[in-house]
Amino acid sequence: MAPPELPIYQLLGEDVLTAIVAGFYRRVPGDPILGPLYPPNEFVEAEHRLRTFLIYRFGGPPVYLQERGHPRLRMRHAPFKVDQAARDRWMELMMASVDEVGVAPEHRAYLEQFLGDIATFLINRA
Ligand code: HEM
Repeated sequence: MAPPELPIYQLLGEDVLTAIVAGFYRRVPGDPILGPLYPPNEFVEAEHRLRTFLIYRFGGPPVYLQERGHPRLRMRHAPFKVDQAARDRWMELMMASVDEVGVAPEHRAYLEQFLGDIATFLINRA
């Protein structure tokens, strides 16, 4: 799918991206597949990392790069068991949050494709 004409950061705005990530992390701790995967005492920091990563990748300020350096997401996910079920659940929770926040259908489709491709790329276990 063709990328939108403007950076998605500009189209959605920082508040919407922040709300999407917050909604995702509200869902993670209680989830039977993803909950146990995440370090239990780091949800505030983890939310900050994903939020700043997406803002940077979507064309906003590169705070993530300044704080974390090159993302190296495959390497950083290596300690966690990311199988197909975890990948699918990650997308389910993320898209539930996107739908809760409410974005235009074309932006929803773009997010689903973009995030889904990275999620598939991060699968590291059979
Ligand atoms: C496929 C399913 C996925 C699982 C099971 C998963 C799981 C995790 C876990 C357990 C962490 C550690 C939490 C932390 O301390 O930050 C993490 C970090 C992170 N994940 Fe994922 N993740 C998935 C997909 C994704 C996707 C699709 C993206 C990007 C679009 C992403 C971006 C990140 C980022 C940016 C970090 C923080 C990296 C760092 O700077 O240390 N993850 N993920």
